[in-house]
Amino acid sequence: MNTNTGTNTDTNTARGWLTDDVALVTGGGSGIGRAVVKRFLAEGARGVGVLVRSAEHVASLQQEFGDRVVVVCGDVRSPQDNAAAVDATVERFGKLDTLVGNAGVWDFFARLEKLSLEQLSESFDEIFAINVKGYVLAARAAAPHLRASHGSMIFTLSNAAFYPGGGGPLYVASKHAGVGLVKQLAYELAPDVRVNAVAPGGTATPLRGPASLGKQEQRLSELPGFEASVANSMPLRFMAQPEDHTGHYVLLASRANSRATTASIVHSDGGWEIRGFARNT
Ligand SMILES: NC(=O)c1ccc[n+]([C@@H]2O[C@H](COP(=O)([O-])OP(=O)(O)OC[C@H]3O[C@@H](n4cnc5c(N)ncnc54)[C@H](O)[C@@H]3O)[C@@H](O)[C@H]2O)c1
Repeated sequence: MNTNTGTNTDTNTARGWLTDDVALVTGGGSGIGRAVVKRFLAEGARGVGVLVRSAEHVASLQQEFGDRVVVVCGDVRSPQDNAAAVDATVERFGKLDTLVGNAGVWDFFARLEKLSLEQLSESFDEIFAINVKGYVLAARAAAPHLRASHGSMIFTLSNAAFYPGGGGPLYVASKHAGVGLVKQLAYELAPDVRVNAVAPGGTATPLRGPASLGKQEQRLSELPGFEASVANSMPLRFMAQPEDHTGHYVLLASRANSRATTASIVHSDGGWEIRGFARNT
């Protein structure tokens, strides 16, 4: 684990919905998390802490955003790394208003009966440790600061948090667990901290799989035909880009615009719930 505080002096102070706010985004080196980092800064955030897994993400975030980010390299499965990310963010920017729990892995549609018992057991442990425990540990580390600031938590869930078919049983169950986590944390942390989520559908990102299935280097966006298959299965008929979801995070983070909203999950999935055949009359 190491901390890179950066030296770039870009001081973009554009006013927006998050003027002077401070956020921490886990898994913010790529995909949806990175788009959230960029959008929060564009909305006037004072700074954003980012917890990433790779040195490559540390360097590229640093290069793009300079001293408006503080980047911690660690693993969301580690209580210490989550605490270090929160501490680095508060030390650097003076407070924490929003936690975005976002780091995750996908199971590449691994089916129950296709996995050996050993694979099933190990990939359950790995996927749940990243997708669920990672959110729990980030919430635990951030909670005292968010109570102090009367801030909020936002978790990245998925269409797979509500419906089958967005993965195999392990990914789908892990994202369903996220729904329970959002509701229970919203209940426990009220009235000080609002807790909400965004549930994207298929999105063009390099989302990877678990090492226990040998899929740690495989990327969702490289699956043959993935874009067409997502587009064809959605009423809105396109695969989202990471930027397509970021407005929902801004809305939920904004005290001025979401003061009365907690335990809510915004669907950003192209209409997964209303899939089917409409009569052309
Ligand atoms: N891409 C999609 O189609 C899609 C759809 C619905 C939900 N999601 C969810 O969106 C979230 C972000 O994923 P994405 O699609 O942007 O993919 P992504 O791979 O670009 O982002 C996930 C990030 O999490 C990081 N990460 C993974 N394991 C980690 C660990 N143990 N410790 C620290 N960081 C770790 C990765 O390095 C990566 O940067 C995930 O929770 C994913 O489940 C994605």
